[in-house]
Amino acid sequence: MGKCANHPDRETSYMCMKHDKYMCEECLECPDPEIHCKFRSSCPVWFMDKRGGKNIDDIPDKPEKNRFKVVFMPDNKDVLVEENTTLLEAVQAADIPLNASCNGKGVCGKCKLVVESGMVESAPTPLLNDEEKRKKYVLACQTTVQGDVTVKIPEEVLEKKLRIAGTGKQVTEELKGMVKGISPMLSRIPLELNPPTLEDSISDLDRLNRCLKKSGVDIDRMNIGIKAMRGLAGAMRGEDWNVTVSVVKKKCSSEVLEVVPGNLPANSFGIAVDVGTTSIVVYLVDMENGSILAATSGHNRQAACGDDVINRIVCAEKDGVSKLSKMVLSTINGLINEAINSADVDREQIDNVVISGNTTMTHLLLGIEPRHIRRDPYIPSVSSFPILRAEDIGLKVNPIAAVFVMPSPASYVGGDIVAGLLYTGLHREEPLTMFIDVGTNGEIVLGNRDWLMAASCSAGPAFEGGGVRWGMRAEEGAIEKVSIDPETFNPVVTVVGDTLPRGICGSGMIDLISEMLLKKIIQPNGKFSIDSTHPRYIKSGDEHAFIVAFANETSVERDIIFTESDIDNIIRSKGAVYAGFMVLLNQAGMDFSMVDRVIITGGFGQFLDIDKAVTIGLLPDIERSKFKYMGNSSIAGAYMALLSEKYRKEAIEVSNSMTYIDFSSNNEFMDEFTSALFLPHTNMEAFPNVKAAIVR
Ligand code: FES
Repeated sequence: MGKCANHPDRETSYMCMKHDKYMCEECLECPDPEIHCKFRSSCPVWFMDKRGGKNIDDIPDKPEKNRFKVVFMPDNKDVLVEENTTLLEAVQAADIPLNASCNGKGVCGKCKLVVESGMVESAPTPLLNDEEKRKKYVLACQTTVQGDVTVKIPEEVLEKKLRIAGTGKQVTEELKGMVKGISPMLSRIPLELNPPTLEDSISDLDRLNRCLKKSGVDIDRMNIGIKAMRGLAGAMRGEDWNVTVSVVKKKCSSEVLEVVPGNLPANSFGIAVDVGTTSIVVYLVDMENGSILAATSGHNRQAACGDDVINRIVCAEKDGVSKLSKMVLSTINGLINEAINSADVDREQIDNVVISGNTTMTHLLLGIEPRHIRRDPYIPSVSSFPILRAEDIGLKVNPIAAVFVMPSPASYVGGDIVAGLLYTGLHREEPLTMFIDVGTNGEIVLGNRDWLMAASCSAGPAFEGGGVRWGMRAEEGAIEKVSIDPETFNPVVTVVGDTLPRGICGSGMIDLISEMLLKKIIQPNGKFSIDSTHPRYIKSGDEHAFIVAFANETSVERDIIFTESDIDNIIRSKGAVYAGFMVLLNQAGMDFSMVDRVIITGGFGQFLDIDKAVTIGLLPDIERSKFKYMGNSSIAGAYMALLSEKYRKEAIEVSNSMTYIDFSSNNEFMDEFTSALFLPHTNMEAFPNVKAAIVR
């Protein structure tokens, strides 16, 4: 390791052995030949220390590779890449969002592109049918660039605006009402100082402290950094002894971060961020009155490295944590830009930020090593964070803005769940509550104000479209509701954005399977029982499938089908969630009859049809009045912590008080999971209403 030649504050292991200089990853990627050496990309000694310190003479000369231009349509964006680079790598280099669920393993079939012109080489794959091959579809991760190429991102893959649960006006008004008294982390204090005289000749810092004390600030546990001290003399004299002091309140003390001349505008804004594995939501908040001035949302750019947290960690191990960090930062900063532009706010006035995310997302965003999260005994590097500075993270707001990161109780139960609890308040109340957050994973909390147990049940990303042929996220063109005519088996669908469909999102899949089960198109084991001569039955390769929408009814001009393996994936996901419920209840010596309420949050919470979720066995067959939707609780909790010190403290207490149950080596979980691999369950007695509906 050594210090980068261009950024001496950065440690790096990349070294040019010829010039004996270190270079950080940013410099390595920089196309400017002046940065160091224009031949570095083909230099045989560049990564010398990574090769175990071999002698330069032992390393054979490598011929310089050809570079080719890849143009991506419809946006006409291009990038130069070396020969044999995969199209997926080219997509990532061009910073184009593309879902690569399996992180380039060639097994998910999500990274489809159409080659319009140019030379490529593709590995054979069973994931493209004859029609797709004829239309020149390729899998980006299985195709290498062999010349200048133009590719098109097809309609079904193009990212559209996400529909995010819990961002409506009603929800935000309700949120505002939940916070009594605003207490930001960073405050700007305007001061009018008395100029020094021979009679009053105390130092500038003492003068500042005296005035702060007069204004009611507790200066006994206040520090000031060397940077602020260096600028103190100039700042105090710059505007006739009028200054603005930025003070950040920490756990046991406070710190003067900056003193600037003049009295800055008092307006201060805050940002709450929900960093989901799939999607990211940003609220821009007026710190004076708690109003949400803008809410923006988008896909996490890291989706190009896989759907789930494990694939993201694998990608970070392979390509470096900073790559994943940059991806998520570019998404967040883009959403912040959108928010400040729409609300006409100056980014320098954003002084407070709260970030809520699962443990892996938090690590990757902060550039913290995540590899041990996926290795026995599954330990995060950091679970609770001090107040950080925005510039140290890379957030494009006021560089000294204070950043609170929600603490993570465990490797697979993160700050998003803590934020969810802040919002739902189940830990403050008496009723025994089951809390379930179904997103890219499934996290469950059981408890009340006396105790809390939490677990993650590895539900996988199927409910967000992962591992399902026509699965997609809840964005424009996604089928979100389905009912099926019992006579004709024709589905009636509702599509996000009221447009032609191009895929099916989680709530649509739950509806579809529930309807197919009740209309006897499939059996409880998920296998098809529909007559093979029915026009909606199709065989796709070796797979039986049901045509949800014919090609002429879709925006992608292809049949949207649902196969037996798609059903199988959903059964596995819902089975993992239900098994999680059962094991947590067993651990507590309880059963569903003792649960007073079930709170559902997460990506599809707002659109979930409870009856249909019960029919497929995702949720228990108990009184429907016990279920409550609460939308995106992670962003709601982040908002509350942004405004209130009380909630920031409460988040730390909640995180510390949760008992984490690890399912990874739990035999009981495996048994419950196996029992739940049926629609709704192998134990039909636990689902009396569904049993009656199926028999009918
Ligand atoms: S098949 Fe290419 S990313 Fe999965």
